[in-house]
Amino acid sequence: MKQIVINGGKKLQGTVRISGAKNAAVAIIPAVILSDGICRIENIPNIMDVNLIANILHEMGARINRINKTTLEIDPSPIRRPVANYDIVRKMRASCYLLGALLGKFSYAEVALPGGCDFGVRPIDQHLKGFGILGAEHNVVGGMICVKADHLTGGHVYLDVVSVGATVNIMLAAVKAEGRTIIENAAKEPHIVDLANFLNSMGADIRGAGTDVIKINGVKYLSGTTYSIIPDQIEAGTYMVAAAATDGDVVISNVITKHLESITAKLREMGVCVEENEDSVHVYRKGALKRCNVKTMPHPGFPTDMQPQIAVLLSMAEGTSIVTEAVWDNRFRYVEELKRMGAVISVDGKVAVIEGVKELNGAPVKATDLRAGAAMIIAALAANGVTHIEDIEHIERGYEDVVEKFGGLGADIRIVYTDDGIVQRA
Ligand code: EPZ
Repeated sequence: MKQIVINGGKKLQGTVRISGAKNAAVAIIPAVILSDGICRIENIPNIMDVNLIANILHEMGARINRINKTTLEIDPSPIRRPVANYDIVRKMRASCYLLGALLGKFSYAEVALPGGCDFGVRPIDQHLKGFGILGAEHNVVGGMICVKADHLTGGHVYLDVVSVGATVNIMLAAVKAEGRTIIENAAKEPHIVDLANFLNSMGADIRGAGTDVIKINGVKYLSGTTYSIIPDQIEAGTYMVAAAATDGDVVISNVITKHLESITAKLREMGVCVEENEDSVHVYRKGALKRCNVKTMPHPGFPTDMQPQIAVLLSMAEGTSIVTEAVWDNRFRYVEELKRMGAVISVDGKVAVIEGVKELNGAPVKATDLRAGAAMIIAALAANGVTHIEDIEHIERGYEDVVEKFGGLGADIRIVYTDDGIVQRA
């Protein structure tokens, strides 16, 4: 087993460079299936979820050439069988994008039912509703979801709930369908815009991505392309919060400041200084952290994927703060771990009431999911003493070189290998 061990209390100082966006990469790589040419994708984060989704395409027959650590060249033409039935498919939510991509290319898709982080029910009813409006039928047999259509034709989809995944999947299925598709109540996250820009760079005709109405005119042919993925706004936000939590002074480079607006606004509300530059933000503190309330919402609201991280900061602010998780049913599983470090938090359904404490103390904790794991790192960096974080594979799914990047900012952080909890070697 592996653990991250952190000796806390050190102020983070220096510059950290943000990698490509995980949630853009895990949508754009499946989208390559739709291409009739070879695609070169740059600024791909070297993380487990992205490597898994690329492996699935490889297993299906795609030719994948790794140019360097962050660049892949993918030729999807050898893919003949639109079926993805691999154990890794079950473990990763983003594998459901294979449904939209394979359906859009072959009018047929057979994919193992998706998994993903465990914070409540993760339905795909809106994905299937969109496929149905495009003329596809679906059924579930033996844990595999099968979607097929004689002929995909554009339609008018009004999403019952703002869903990133459904917006992505319907876009993928519609981009080569005959006629016009309109997606209303669409998600507006930066990675939705990035996917639309990628598809348009291949010759797709998608307008309105980033607004709540996306219009897609189906095209017959999508050429190969070269495309660079946007920086990861959640990774950037994580380092911004870590800088504030350790009373540090950090420049976070290679960011798109507009994508960080809600995070920047919330940090400023807490008394944290955030200076925005061309493609970086400079984060430091001038005094105590102030309490505030947070409610997670679809973009451009405060991102749910930053909820555990900001809760750590609030647990050290003066006063009582309220965090409302309005996107997921149960995204407070990290709270029990944070309380082991001295946080005072009570959770009732979708609301957490946080009473700020002067300091946190190191303790053995677990990463209960990807962003919860990032929150544990932030808490450990700010805490007095040593923290051992278990189940760090969750963190490695979404944060490239996380130990190296925090170490480069002066953190005392390392990975150790354990056997039944006993450290074998660092
Ligand atoms: C994406 O998940 C992200 N994952 C999640 O990030 C993120 O938390 C989420 O969007 C919200 O921003 C990827 O992009 C790979 P949704 P997704 O469909 O698409 C309900 C991370 O940490 N819903 O926008 O699965 C659903 O239950 C991960 O990087 C339906 O009811 O999220 C939820 O309450 C964790 N029916 C809400 O919509 C559906 O058919 C938002 O879900 C689909 C969703």
